[in-house]
Amino acid sequence: MSKRKLPLHVAFIMDGNGRWAKRRGLPRVKGHVEGVKSVERVIDFAKKVGIPYLTFYAFSTENWKRPKEEVQFLMELLREYLKEKLPIFLRDDIRVSFVGRRDRIPRETIEWMEKVERETAKCSSIWVFVAVDYGGRDEIVRGINKILKEGLKKVDENTFRSFLDFPPEVPDPDLLIRTAGERRISNFLLWYLAYTELYFTDTLWPDFDEREFEKALEDYAKRVRKFGGLPPDEEENS
Ligand code: IPE
Ligand code: IPE
Ligand code: MG
Repeated sequence: MSKRKLPLHVAFIMDGNGRWAKRRGLPRVKGHVEGVKSVERVIDFAKKVGIPYLTFYAFSTENWKRPKEEVQFLMELLREYLKEKLPIFLRDDIRVSFVGRRDRIPRETIEWMEKVERETAKCSSIWVFVAVDYGGRDEIVRGINKILKEGLKKVDENTFRSFLDFPPEVPDPDLLIRTAGERRISNFLLWYLAYTELYFTDTLWPDFDEREFEKALEDYAKRVRKFGGLPPDEEENS
């Protein structure tokens, strides 16, 4: 695969954990446990091929509507995952940051999120963002409220962007991958997806492996991105 065509930033809507479990007659939460392994595979693969930014949608602002037990399980799973993996992030030079609201997540979970953010802040092989209690609309409205609080009367796109959750140096996702056959955005990264290439697969998230990722990257490499302009070959002739 040619390096030139590799995306810099890939975002994932990790969907289908519940269906994966249900098909095996297991409780939904087993699907979430299995889904964690896909996250690890994807990070390792991205690091190997040289993709510098990844974003994973772990919990949406709408996911609070799920049964209390599932929500609690997900928050505990995240905390345990971070606890277990912090030494691995440090060993493998993986920086981990979070986007989304921080005012509704259970204390033990947010403490680990912030610890991992602090301790991996100097890691630089790959930068992994995890979206927790994240909604694209919520992020935009929080941004507007920060702007109002600062008393700004007018902003341009760059200034507005600096009030959102992703650090300004992080490029917009080049590629968004959603698993499990659903073809929607579900309130993910609304501001940043303006020119992102979309890739949908029927594969359920716990079954998403290196081969599936490779397939998505190959598909991406064939896309002609124009950003409203003309494709490069036509530009030359015009
Ligand atoms: C995605 O899997 C994980 C989260 C939203 C936390 P789902 O739990 O949505 O799985 P399905 O869509 O019910 O199969
Ligand atoms: C999107 O999946 C959110 C995450 C993957 C965290 P959902 O399963 O919540 O999305 P909908 O409800 O099918 O749109
Ligand atoms: Mg789902």
